[in-house]
Amino acid sequence: MLETNIGKILIHEEVLRKRIIELAKQISVDYKDKDLVLIVVLEGAMIFFADLVREITLPPQSVLVNSIAVSSYGMGTKTSGTVKIKKDIDTDIKGRNVLLLEDIIDTGLTLKFIIEYLKEKKPASLRNCVLLNKAERREVEVDLDYVGFKIPNEFVVGYGLDCAEKYRRLRHVVALKPELYP
Ligand code: PRP
Repeated sequence: MLETNIGKILIHEEVLRKRIIELAKQISVDYKDKDLVLIVVLEGAMIFFADLVREITLPPQSVLVNSIAVSSYGMGTKTSGTVKIKKDIDTDIKGRNVLLLEDIIDTGLTLKFIIEYLKEKKPASLRNCVLLNKAERREVEVDLDYVGFKIPNEFVVGYGLDCAEKYRRLRHVVALKPELYP
């Protein structure tokens, strides 16, 4: 099946690439001379993370990588309202500069939960970098530090984002046709 048959391309891979290079440049400036722990929120942010981390120009020994996996959507298209940790971080972040990498913020419940959870571990600083901001749908306030794109209220998949675990491998961010929802 052609990728374009799935829905309309909202953000083309080339546009994603350029923006990710800009974000990485900004992060590299902001964390100059500092150690950084990048925490990727699995599964959705893994492709974003893989592209971003390789564009960061900080000394390689200054950048550590870790991951957390949470779930609130499960196999559906609506949030359950409850965020659960499926996989915790396995590094000590106390006193460290932490940057959380998320693919999308929608209601904000997931990011707020993770921020509050990680704050308890007393990092020196805790910021977030979100590729897609679906601001219209926000239910809880979350301060965003780095944002890739503001997007409309459409169900988006691709570039790591899923619908019932499907479509993650698509190169572009695509708006899914409602008839393709599970
Ligand atoms: C998705 C996405 C964010 C969250 C955003 O996660 O990756 O973590 O939803 O939605 P919210 O702002 O309304 O909380 P999902 O639970 O689908 O897991 P996934 O990353 O494995 O796709």
